[in-house]
Amino acid sequence: MKPLVLALPKGRVHEEAVALFARAGWDLSATLGDTRLLVHDVAGLRVLVVRSADVPTYVEHGAADLGVAGRDVLEEDGADVYRPLDLGIGACRLSVAEPAGRPVDDRALAHVRVATKYPRLTRRWLESRGRFAEIIKLSGSIELGALTGLADRIVDLVSSGKTLAANHLREVEVILPVTSALVVNRASLKLRGAEIDAIVGRLRAVV
Ligand code: PRP
Repeated sequence: MKPLVLALPKGRVHEEAVALFARAGWDLSATLGDTRLLVHDVAGLRVLVVRSADVPTYVEHGAADLGVAGRDVLEEDGADVYRPLDLGIGACRLSVAEPAGRPVDDRALAHVRVATKYPRLTRRWLESRGRFAEIIKLSGSIELGALTGLADRIVDLVSSGKTLAANHLREVEVILPVTSALVVNRASLKLRGAEIDAIVGRLRAVV
């Protein structure tokens, strides 16, 4: 039998995911560190380390059977994956922020620009508030969008709040509380259900 393929997100959630899997009995620590290797055969699994926003894509298309994905990317992407378990790791929030010294007046009808990596969630938030704004898509260092005047506000992840504070940005509103979940490819669930159930069960016991 081929090993199950697990997609882990590069970056800060990677370490937390490895710690959680260790508690459940899988030592995936070989996937950490500054290795350039992208595919790891460890602990009976094949582990792919991918950009966090790409985890749902790998799982939805079956290139990975399982993955660890944040609620932010799952909701932005709308991927059709099974989500059996919230892992409680990678806790942060998706928030609107603006320069502390240049607040947006929500009552004014001025043209507002919002920079973000999350255009769909930003659009959804604007619509829920009955507001209109131009959305400017960025791929990283979103805070710079507001600092340079490219945008009036940003929508980005906030964890400790240190990045906002260091750049004199003020959190205006939380749009979405975020944690990471275990996601499973729908076909894999049918074809390899027993193995996947065992993994979900062992993780559930330590979450
Ligand atoms: C994330 C996020 C913020 C920062 C928030 O960026 O986009 O910039 O972390 O964390 P804090 O509240 O603890 O300061 P990341 O480092 O993942 O890189 P990116 O800006 O390129 O997305």
